[in-house]
Amino acid sequence: MRIVSDPKKMQEISMGLRHERKKVGFVPTMGYFHQGHTSLMDYAREHADVVVVSLFVNPTQFGPNEDLDRYPRDFEHDREVAEAAGADILFTPDVKAMYAPDASTSVTVEGVSAGLCGASRPTHFRGVATVVAKLFMLVNPTFAVFGEKDRQQLAVIRRMVRDLDIPVAVVGRPIVREADGLALSSRNVFLSREERGQAPWLNKCLEAAAALAASGIRDVKTILSAAADILAAHAPLGAVDYLEAVDPDSMQPVDTVAGPVVLAAAVQFSRARLIDNRLALPPES
Ligand code: PAJ
Repeated sequence: MRIVSDPKKMQEISMGLRHERKKVGFVPTMGYFHQGHTSLMDYAREHADVVVVSLFVNPTQFGPNEDLDRYPRDFEHDREVAEAAGADILFTPDVKAMYAPDASTSVTVEGVSAGLCGASRPTHFRGVATVVAKLFMLVNPTFAVFGEKDRQQLAVIRRMVRDLDIPVAVVGRPIVREADGLALSSRNVFLSREERGQAPWLNKCLEAAAALAASGIRDVKTILSAAADILAAHAPLGAVDYLEAVDPDSMQPVDTVAGPVVLAAAVQFSRARLIDNRLALPPES
């Protein structure tokens, strides 16, 4: 596995790969790898000639009071994991190389970015869309793989790629979970023992909500209030940031489950904000 940190060098390599008509699979990450990340690398390895993984803790997607400084990092571990997963190139630019001091261009994906995480983190998706657009320019991949764990992020990237005619196929992959259902996340290390015990209820309440939808209850208010009751009863250490039902494509709130709907939740524990989501479907008619 080759480690490349210079963005211009990365671009030169990727231009060469495109010229050779290689199929390049790309997995953008912020590191501290777990099986959620490796599931994306495995997919890329299976479907590409050349696998590029980027590791860049992107400062512009963190708000002023967020956890940029204490975002977990372990480069040696990540290098080993990426290599074992079959990555050909690990792209690790530094902040200075990615952003000129007078950088003044950004990508805003309106609407899709507005609700859910965008409501409590107003500059987050601008940071994500901008860095992903830059990474796409540098890596020039045939396809890029993202986790459904960050369902709104995936919707933002899909919309950006469509609107800007970026020649990259966007692939979404399922959420990887612990045995008790908690979605794997780099931020799970910040949970206390007691919080870790309660955190799986984030998934369980969404599961229960999806079961209500599958049983024929279409009213979103009814479904969400049942989920909220479960969370309040079993995860009292978490403060609910949002618990919503949205359209999978536009991420706009819906009132009824008339087709596929994304149930999404964010819960703030003392040192970790956790997100999760699940697709709900009405009963087959
Ligand atoms: P990061 O949080 O490191 O996540 C990298 C990729 O791993 C994302 O596509 C995310 O959805 C996926 N992922 C994380 N946990 C997962 C899980 N439990 N199951 C499946 N996939 C999972 O997301 C980012 O980095 C950044 O915002 C980035 C896109 C790299 C832009 O900076």
